[in-house]
Amino acid sequence: MRVFEIKDDWSFDSIVASERPEPNPGPYDVVIEMKMASLNARDLIVPLRGYGRGTGELPLIPISDGAGVVVAAGDQVSRVAVGDRVCPMFFQKWIAGAPSPAAFSSSLGGPLDGVMAERVCLSDEGVVRLPGTLSDAEAATLPCAGLTAWSAVCTLGNVRPGERVLVQGTGGVALFALAFAKAHGAHVTVISSSGEKLERVRELGADATINYRETPDWARASRTITSDRGGYDLIVELGGADTLPLSLKAIRPGGTIATIGVLSGVQTTASLGLIVTRQVRIQGVTVGHREGFEAMLAAIVQHGIQPVLGKTFAFDDFKASLDHFKAGGHYGKTLVAF
Ligand SMILES: NC(=O)c1ccc[n+]([C@@H]2O[C@H](COP(=O)([O-])OP(=O)(O)OC[C@H]3O[C@@H](n4cnc5c(N)ncnc54)[C@H](OP(=O)(O)O)[C@@H]3O)[C@@H](O)[C@H]2O)c1
Repeated sequence: MRVFEIKDDWSFDSIVASERPEPNPGPYDVVIEMKMASLNARDLIVPLRGYGRGTGELPLIPISDGAGVVVAAGDQVSRVAVGDRVCPMFFQKWIAGAPSPAAFSSSLGGPLDGVMAERVCLSDEGVVRLPGTLSDAEAATLPCAGLTAWSAVCTLGNVRPGERVLVQGTGGVALFALAFAKAHGAHVTVISSSGEKLERVRELGADATINYRETPDWARASRTITSDRGGYDLIVELGGADTLPLSLKAIRPGGTIATIGVLSGVQTTASLGLIVTRQVRIQGVTVGHREGFEAMLAAIVQHGIQPVLGKTFAFDDFKASLDHFKAGGHYGKTLVAF
């Protein structure tokens, strides 16, 4: 079968089209014929071995997120059946509750082989059946980007109606966070570098917007938005080094900063005083578990949430899809059709 793999060394030039033997499922395995894949920021980090030893070994099939149909199942498989449309879970071994080291070592697209293969063989524990209301493209956006936002806003953020939420940027995780926070009745502020993108998120339901290029001190600018609460109840932190110091100023006493992304760097100087004296909860978020994924699917169906889709590339143009995503400026999830 045809695959893409990072082959000889850790670099983008080393990503090549290749062949692998057809998978042979064990008694608890399913074979998924992939229909769609979608890209995430981590897919630009993996080819450079950016997660160190945790990135995996070469050759490695990249990309964590996708959707497909079950075409073969072992005789002990009970969770899904041949013909079911499914998503592979980002963490194959995180079913529910607190994460374990084994769960965190079970991510697709590094260290485990990912979904850029015509067929993928996984344990039936590591897949989730899809509702008919979601297209393959919409479903393919969920395993990393969707679930991370769900964990931040719902599982860990526990957002309540009327709460003030701030979302950083208009990338994949950010647009899901906006949708999930709105579905829970929150008042959502989105910050972006682009006036045009801010117009689009207002159409998606954002209640307030700030252009962080024109207004770099968005923490100060947001005071009027949160004056009745003394700051945001939840901040979906995606910027990292440059944004955390501002998030600490914009959060309300007792609020939660869901720390997810490091788009502007991983090392920062932040005021411990603000964290202590305002009793801020810094909540790391690492994608999420299968139970969260199933809850997210139920909410998506119930609220009619539609993932925001961007450009779609053909399987053979996978490297062009990475170039497009790397260039930035995208709006909506970048997809690869098989
Ligand atoms: N912890 C986890 O489990 C987890 C899971 C998924 C992703 N992540 C991380 O989350 C981040 C976002 O991932 P993604 O896949 O959603 O990326 P993405 O789709 O590429 O989103 C990029 C967007 O983020 C915004 N952005 C960039 N720098 C920013 C800054 N300094 N301040 C505010 N916004 C900024 C920009 O929005 P505008 O163009 O609107 O300005 C940009 O378009 C990455 O760091 C990724 O590694 C972590």
